[in-house]
Amino acid sequence: MTNNMIVDSFELAAGRCDDLTPLVYARLFGEHPELEQFFVMDPTGAVRGSMLAWVINAILDYAGARSFGENLIRAEAVNHTGMGIAPEQFGLFFGAVADTLRELLGADWTAEIDQAWGMLLGELAGLVQRAG
Ligand code: HEM
Repeated sequence: MTNNMIVDSFELAAGRCDDLTPLVYARLFGEHPELEQFFVMDPTGAVRGSMLAWVINAILDYAGARSFGENLIRAEAVNHTGMGIAPEQFGLFFGAVADTLRELLGADWTAEIDQAWGMLLGELAGLVQRAG
């Protein structure tokens, strides 16, 4: 365990699940079916996997070293607007990641982890809104 609750939550999840990709996208599309159409050009799932890896790296950087995560998220929010994805839709992805971790962690999702994710999601929502 570290002193970074966001890092801890990913590490705990990694011990229970080899690949978050199917869980995150099943959740995202289950809650927001209109988002699935954006991936029709991704029959193999390669883009979905790569995108999630970028999102996780951006989150870990944003919650830690703060070198590239903020800029990446801001730039991608603008890029995705160009693909017809509204900033609010873009922002939904972070919630799907958080909810996937919460479900995987179960009783190990502590109050501290919950608070850290709550703050992070609030900050990312503001970041995305300002970028859009
Ligand atoms: C529900 C929200 C989102 C949707 C529907 C969505 C959709 C897409 C789609 C369709 C592509 C493929 C573009 C192409 O083929 O050229 C893509 C790529 C990408 N997205 Fe998203 N995106 C979402 C959220 C995010 C978020 C939050 C990030 C944060 C960093 C992100 C980062 C990226 C990156 C880096 C790529 C390029 C991946 C690669 O080809 O390696 N996306 N996204």
